[in-house]
Amino acid sequence: MEYRGYDSAGLAVNDGTKIEIAKCKGRLKALSDLTNGGETIQGTSGIGHTRWATHGVPSDTNSHPHYNSNESIAVVHNGIIENYIKIKQRLIDKGYSFQSQTDTEVVVQLLDHYYEGDALAAITKVMTKLEGSYALGIVFNDHPDELFAVRKDSPLIVGVSESGNYIASDVPAILKYTRDVYYIDNGEIVKLTRDNVSFYNSDLEPIEKELKTVAWDISAAEKGGYEHFMLKEIHEQPKAVRDTLNPRIRDNDIVIDELNMNEEDIKNLKKIFIVACGSAYHTGMTGKYVIEDLARIPVEVDLASEFRYRNPILEEGTLTIIISQSGETADSLAALREAKRQGMKVLGIINVVGSSIAREADNVMYTWAGPEIAVATTKAYSTQLSALYLLAMHFAKVRGALPQNEFDTLLQNLRQLPEQIQSILDNNVTQIQYIASKFVAVKECFFIGRGVDYTTALEGSLKLKEISYIHSEAYPAGELKHGPIALIEDGTLVTAILTQEDLYKKTLSNIVEIQSRGALVLAVTNEGNEEAVKVSDIAVYIPVTDKHFTTSLAVIPLQLLSYYVSIGKGLDLDKPRNLAKSVTVE
Ligand code: AGP
Repeated sequence: MEYRGYDSAGLAVNDGTKIEIAKCKGRLKALSDLTNGGETIQGTSGIGHTRWATHGVPSDTNSHPHYNSNESIAVVHNGIIENYIKIKQRLIDKGYSFQSQTDTEVVVQLLDHYYEGDALAAITKVMTKLEGSYALGIVFNDHPDELFAVRKDSPLIVGVSESGNYIASDVPAILKYTRDVYYIDNGEIVKLTRDNVSFYNSDLEPIEKELKTVAWDISAAEKGGYEHFMLKEIHEQPKAVRDTLNPRIRDNDIVIDELNMNEEDIKNLKKIFIVACGSAYHTGMTGKYVIEDLARIPVEVDLASEFRYRNPILEEGTLTIIISQSGETADSLAALREAKRQGMKVLGIINVVGSSIAREADNVMYTWAGPEIAVATTKAYSTQLSALYLLAMHFAKVRGALPQNEFDTLLQNLRQLPEQIQSILDNNVTQIQYIASKFVAVKECFFIGRGVDYTTALEGSLKLKEISYIHSEAYPAGELKHGPIALIEDGTLVTAILTQEDLYKKTLSNIVEIQSRGALVLAVTNEGNEEAVKVSDIAVYIPVTDKHFTTSLAVIPLQLLSYYVSIGKGLDLDKPRNLAKSVTVE
């Protein structure tokens, strides 16, 4: 399971008289060393966990399993408890104390609070209190031969075999013991003994489930049945975006606790620097357009490798935002240190909890995309955009730059993004596979757009470059005539992103200019824009959303395009040549 998370690990095993717990920071090997290969922790039932930190840095204390004060209940959890702060406070008011910084610990303390001997009753009671996503594994000391599990939104399976029964977040964990599995659905509860498995709904009515047989091998199973991690992560974007947005949208308002900026601080903001590399830089470019248009705060976006050496002028009232999936990019870390050297407040928008940039930033807004394994970023990129939209809207509202009715409409559009991304993934793949077949043989191509369509073009171009090795350039559409159009000749492939209704006409005229010179044009545009199809050779339609958020939708076909072109070229797209997932050198 380490491909799903690997910053700490732990075990809770019931030896028939008590629950033994062993857990520590580090990879599974550290846990194995701690328990002498499992020798020191014996028992016939138990739960284990390898962690991808979301709340609370990787540490021994924040590792799972979490347990109650007398260690009579232990829990492992995959997901995010969105209302954990409120629950934690209520429990503290009832006299509970907490050891960890995690959201998960509230689950085991709630179980302690409701447990009076009936495990299933306590579990269903706790389920009514939790908001967010969870797959839970639970052991109770006075139920030594039983194991409980429950699921909401995070995956959970049950494996059955002659030698015992298992719960897991995913198939790879149990494949070497059995291929016979039950897939658990939302709201279902499982009780396992060595010889029996029972399923219940949230009203504790017994339910029947169909036993399935897994045909995958381990490697395919780690990719969730997808051929590559990149494709799996492209398809994980609806959940990743939802997990990043939802905890910060409360009572139809945006609440970003981790920002640590009060209304005065936000009103006094004079300038924002966004500093990053690669795709993270592209999200910063999008963020510039959105923050400036909504919040009317000047935003300067810099490549970290340039920022750190150009002696930037950072003044009072400047917020520096460092965006990084890995949180380990050397140039971005150096840029953070330069901003801090000049006395600036630094906000990190980071995916890896406890990473170097996360630790050195003054505040961190985590993107809860989960582990991103493919070198070419997709879901982390999408969650970075989501974080920037939240910031832009929050700043705009606090500074009185956005009337309430417009804020409400934007929030509605923002909340729809996950299912709109899903609809593209459900409906456009076949068309994009066909288009990709036209790109496989090309030697070079261009991506163009205006406004945020230009920032989408940058990301689409990088995706194609880094996993299909086709030379690609992204230009502001209005810039073509200042030189680059000299490169357009018969058959040149150009992808035009056309989502900005107030700029359509301008970009359409750019398309006519290049078509008259022989270019083949792929248009990515909003459903209903019949204009585009008249001047392009093929059009990919995306759902309509607010103009500030279109990058989140227009980028999906471009991610899929680069993926299928790379497939067509038979390349190792999860590990592209010359690239690393995290560039920890200058
Ligand atoms: C994007 O697909 C690339 N892998 C690369 O450009 C990446 O975005 C860049 O290296 C920044 O990485 P970071 O977000 O981990 O800092």
